[in-house]
Amino acid sequence: MGITGRRHQEIYDVIGIGFGPSNMSLAIALEEHEASAPQQPLRYHFFERQPTFGWHRNMLLPSTTMQISFLKDLATFRNPLSRFSFISFLHSSNRLVQFVNNQDFFPTRQEFHQYLEWAAAGLSDRVTYGTEVVSIRPGTEGGTLTPDLLEIEVRDGDGTTSVVITRNVVISTGLVPRLPEGVTAGERVWHSSQFLSRFHARDPRELKRVAVVGAGQSAAEITRFFYDSLPHAEVFAVIPSYGYSVADDTPFANQVFDPGAVDEYYYGTDRARDAFWRYHRNTNYSVVDTDVIRALYQRSYDEQVRGTQRLHFRNLTRVVEVGSTGEGTRMVLRSLLDDRREDLAVDALVFATGYDGVDPARLLGDGFDAHFERDAAGRHRVERDYRLVSSSGLTCGVYLQGGTEHSHGLTSSLLSNMAVRSGEIADSIVLGRTGRELDRTHSVQEASSAA
Ligand code: FDA
Ligand code: NAP
Repeated sequence: MGITGRRHQEIYDVIGIGFGPSNMSLAIALEEHEASAPQQPLRYHFFERQPTFGWHRNMLLPSTTMQISFLKDLATFRNPLSRFSFISFLHSSNRLVQFVNNQDFFPTRQEFHQYLEWAAAGLSDRVTYGTEVVSIRPGTEGGTLTPDLLEIEVRDGDGTTSVVITRNVVISTGLVPRLPEGVTAGERVWHSSQFLSRFHARDPRELKRVAVVGAGQSAAEITRFFYDSLPHAEVFAVIPSYGYSVADDTPFANQVFDPGAVDEYYYGTDRARDAFWRYHRNTNYSVVDTDVIRALYQRSYDEQVRGTQRLHFRNLTRVVEVGSTGEGTRMVLRSLLDDRREDLAVDALVFATGYDGVDPARLLGDGFDAHFERDAAGRHRVERDYRLVSSSGLTCGVYLQGGTEHSHGLTSSLLSNMAVRSGEIADSIVLGRTGRELDRTHSVQEASSAA
């Protein structure tokens, strides 16, 4: 579907940027909202830069599992009767009975990807793939700003740009890969987000010495994958901590991902917000699931029993320099234990060094970004309904899905709360016609009766 918005022809109620799980979840919430109020049809569409649906495809490693329960799918927490639930997917795949027999709350990432693809197929008329949004601008009429409209500039696969007009935009462009300062990705230096495509582009026989930097889930999964799929290779794990630390997913700690925790974080004091991070960062960041930690330790121990070693850990160690040697990559490591430096030449070096959140300023551009308020720390001020706070009387809505850790807490970059969050955004947009009050019960009741 090609869209060229012209002011007098098409004005959308919502344009979504990105069609990952968050905005898919929003598409479902809008569809269910619409079904409950057919007299108020909504015009909404999403743009996704990937040519087809894909969710962190480069990390779809064998045996990796989800870090949330299957019930935290695209819709269930908002509307347990949704046709887009994971259970509905299992049923339509003739696997519901077998899934239950398996007694596991945490599907593999492969299976969850299948679920998301299935849901994306059911929403295909709402999204244009292979189309990147390049900017968001204020609407104008005869050179004067129109405070209720936005212009969304989109570029399709052959470089053609067009403009779509909308009342609201929801930015959900996902995590931004983070490399240490001075490091540039290339043929032999990869960020974890590029992993499988880079790995498959190489002849595995050429990968005789490989290294992985980081001590988070991505680093541990890639280290295990290298070890298992390159039986001839030396594998170096360069970890900044003393050892991998476990991701706390025990029930009390897991409450930080509950929908109610968003309110407590948002309306909490600075001290309360700080405590969320101080006590519970280890539910998500720089931590690894127990099974992966144990799998790696087992491999290391088996090597000790055999008296051979090709899995090497450099703990409390940082990479201080990366360069190339004609054939490979040279890295300099520095141990925090004794400041000792070590030179290491490798055929592939993976930085599993994490991600930054969405920064809407990139799409808004300096001029338009200045219309939105920032807090004392320079971060965007965001309403409880995920709408950027405007200081200049704009009545159009710029909403964020992701990039709101500072205002809404730990679930911002995760799947845990996306169904509820999307319902809240849908409510805000729809209720925005008569007043901007967030009413969570409204979305649950209406969506349920729609299903
Ligand atoms: P996501 O990144 O999925 O989607 C954003 C989309 O926007 C992408 O498809 C991108 O192509 C598109 N896009 C970007 N810029 C664009 C533009 N300008 N124009 C058009 N399209 C654009 N969380 C969790 O709760 N449980 C889990 O099990 C996992 N597992 C996991 C594994 C791995 C390997 C990673 C890296 C992360 C996770 N996460 C996670 C966290 C992760 O953020 C989460 O799973 C979702 O990807 C969040 O969904 P979003 O839709 O917000 O972003
Ligand atoms: P992460 O948790 O942010 O971990 C990044 C790691 O890199 C940390 O150990 C960090 O150390 C280290 N690091 C950062 N900069 C460094 C530097 N300059 N030198 C050395 N080390 C450096 O990132 P992630 O592992 O990619 O995880 C990101 C998100 O994806 C999380 O939500 C995670 O749960 C999710 N994920 C899920 C799955 C799955 O579902 N199976 C798989 C992978 C990832 P410090 O602690 O010192 O900063």
